[in-house]
Amino acid sequence: MNATSSSSARKRIAVIPGDGIGKEVIPEAVKVLQAAAAAGGREVALAEFDWGADRYLRDGTTLPADAVEMLRRDFDAILLGAMGDPRVPTNIHAAEILLGLRFKLDLYVNARPCVLFDRRFTPLKYRTEKDVNFMVLRENTEGLYVGMGGNFKKGTADEVAIQEDVNTRKGVERIIRYAFEFARKRGLQRVCMSDKSNALTFGHDLWQRAFKEVRGEYPGIESSHQYIDNLLMQMVRDPAQFQVIVTSNLFGDIASDLGAQLAGGLGLAPSGNIHPGQVSLFEPVHGSAPNIAGNGTANPIGAILAVGMMFEFLGWESEARAIDQAVRAALREEKTPAELGGSRSTREVGDWVANSVAKSGVAS
Ligand code: NAD
Ligand code: IPM
Ligand code: MN
Repeated sequence: MNATSSSSARKRIAVIPGDGIGKEVIPEAVKVLQAAAAAGGREVALAEFDWGADRYLRDGTTLPADAVEMLRRDFDAILLGAMGDPRVPTNIHAAEILLGLRFKLDLYVNARPCVLFDRRFTPLKYRTEKDVNFMVLRENTEGLYVGMGGNFKKGTADEVAIQEDVNTRKGVERIIRYAFEFARKRGLQRVCMSDKSNALTFGHDLWQRAFKEVRGEYPGIESSHQYIDNLLMQMVRDPAQFQVIVTSNLFGDIASDLGAQLAGGLGLAPSGNIHPGQVSLFEPVHGSAPNIAGNGTANPIGAILAVGMMFEFLGWESEARAIDQAVRAALREEKTPAELGGSRSTREVGDWVANSVAKSGVAS
């Protein structure tokens, strides 16, 4: 069974808090998850996994050998905090756990919504909620992230370092098609593809050709192209022009941090690592934030909204809406953490949103 089998059955969710503020925001997201499920009369079974830097430093485990099979067999979705720890400078555990799950579960869509909930939080002058409301769809299984390449004469003056940018016809085409399907299902009019085909003449020429072919299948949707350097500038200059942005793994990583800040802050931004119809992974966009970890001040809203994305994926739309509304209320009523200029702790924000979800109930 997986998420496609039924939207009413009990869902099994794997929880991986990970490192740093991941361990602080995930308990709050779980609180909200439980409140929303209870309000909707839904049953969830949670199982926590201790994969992350502590475990790696203790016994060398990153992603256990049977993890992928177990997640596919026993779970409908995964909630993850963040991976990254200064005690592991190579970031090997993050690569093997986080990128490992993205690759091995073939989670080819990284959906990163950039939505301004309240105009007070955008750094852009005169911009309002209607101006910052777009989705970044990041290719999530290839590109510069695949780890192909190597060193020659490492550590010498003649060192060569090669990092390959892998773009496959299948991989590029499926994320572009997902972007058009996403626009169609949501009733959106515009899809913008971003690449660097003026300089990266092999891989990004493939993006160009695939985009031109796929867009022909969606005559009702306006398609455009911007080079990534221009796209990032345009996101700041006139974000209202974007509804759906589709781009490569690395460019999507960069664009989504910028988009998060346009919407008020990195700590607000959720994401879904998705393979439609298969077990998928939801997480905040941010990392482990070692600079504030342990203070109890991290913004848990990105992690909470990631639960909303998970519920939508699971077909629990009313519960997802309840989470969205509770977060909007928290922002409106300034129940905010330091990142948003407030003084609430991570736990206080989580408690407030969970109580608000429980009180408001879930209208189905
Ligand atoms: P980061 O996202 O952890 O932090 C960037 C900045 O944003 C910091 O100033 C941090 O304090 C702030 N910030 C992030 N999340 C916040 C929140 N919820 N509330 C308030 N402030 C928040 O990025 P970084 O500093 O470049 O990386 C730190 C570590 O996290 C590295 O090891 C990196 O590889 C890892 N990382 C992991 C993920 C992930 O697991 N998906 C994502 C990004 C970075
Ligand atoms: C993210 C992170 C990861 C990425 C890192 C930790 C490998 O920045 O999820 O955005 O680059 O994908
Ligand atoms: Mn990132």
